[in-house]
Amino acid sequence: MKKVLITGVAGFIGSNLADRLLKEGNYEVIGIDNLSYGIKEQIPNGVKFYKYDIRNKLIGHLFENVDYVFHFAAKNCISDCQKNPQETFDINVNGTINIFNYAYNNKVKKVIFAESSAIYEGSDIYPTPETEFKPQSFYAISKATIMMLSESYKKFYNLNTTALRYFCVYGPRQDYRRSIPPLFSSFIIKLLKGETPTIYGTGEKRRDFIHIDDINNFHIKCITDNRTTGKVFNLGNGINYSVNEMLKTIQNLLGIGIEPNYEPDLPGEAFQNLADIELAKEIGWIPKIDLETGLKSSINFIKNELKKGNL
Ligand SMILES: NC(=O)c1ccc[n+]([C@@H]2O[C@H](COP(=O)([O-])OP(=O)(O)OC[C@H]3O[C@@H](n4cnc5c(N)ncnc54)[C@H](O)[C@@H]3O)[C@@H](O)[C@H]2O)c1
Repeated sequence: MKKVLITGVAGFIGSNLADRLLKEGNYEVIGIDNLSYGIKEQIPNGVKFYKYDIRNKLIGHLFENVDYVFHFAAKNCISDCQKNPQETFDINVNGTINIFNYAYNNKVKKVIFAESSAIYEGSDIYPTPETEFKPQSFYAISKATIMMLSESYKKFYNLNTTALRYFCVYGPRQDYRRSIPPLFSSFIIKLLKGETPTIYGTGEKRRDFIHIDDINNFHIKCITDNRTTGKVFNLGNGINYSVNEMLKTIQNLLGIGIEPNYEPDLPGEAFQNLADIELAKEIGWIPKIDLETGLKSSINFIKNELKKGNL
């Protein structure tokens, strides 16, 4: 059995990875989350859960005999981060330093951590390769900082890491309770409730969406394939859609055609993102889930949550 620690385990990506690892059968999973955004009920049974902030200096004992750390906990809504740069850096940078410190003190084999395609905000090269580096928003700069920190931890403490530059990940358990929920969840919920969906801006922004099951295939690779160590990988589909196109697809799948309300644009967001995924493909990863199939899994999940009265 390999022991895996996941930070942000009550969140979207963390809870889905915990589920996948437990289903694989040869992993013991422990998880940390301060439940600031995460939902305790969505942590899979079988995870040893500890309610802690990643900045807490008392979490060291949790790293004993841990083989791999997946570090997802972060302040991650771009517009919230724009309003509070200090807290963004405190959680995303100081919190990560705490995680890196305990990882190397406990001889963890590798820390796999969440970066973001927001690093490419200032770039106009599409598809964007990993060599681009143009963060602008406070969120993106915090993610860029932890990437640079990981290089120092490798150089000075010999800590192995893999950085994952996610594009727009979607699928079941995506956080739908926030003031501004992720696009897909928000459209599906509104349409199912017979309400008007909101689009911020003109709806012509383009996003590269990638399903959580494809992302989890790469997560497993990070544990099992040494070629991932010491590198940063774009994880997207290599195809992008406009927000208007996405809404149309969801309307068609649901058979509900309520037209959107257009609100002023949100600050700090890039106009377009599109991943160059050649590096991940070179080591045998390829996204398998097309948008329509992936959306059906989100729709089923949200329908069930509505039935349970959770929304
Ligand atoms: N979902 C995406 O499309 C996407 C894209 C790019 C990058 N990312 C990154 O991937 C990671 C996971 O994203 P997600 O979509 O699962 O987000 P999420 O908000 O669903 O999960 C993050 C979890 O971290 C927890 N958390 C926040 N601050 C904490 C703290 N100080 N201490 C302990 N726990 C804390 C929250 O309660 C939440 O459960 C984040 O680092 C995010 O920046 C996600």
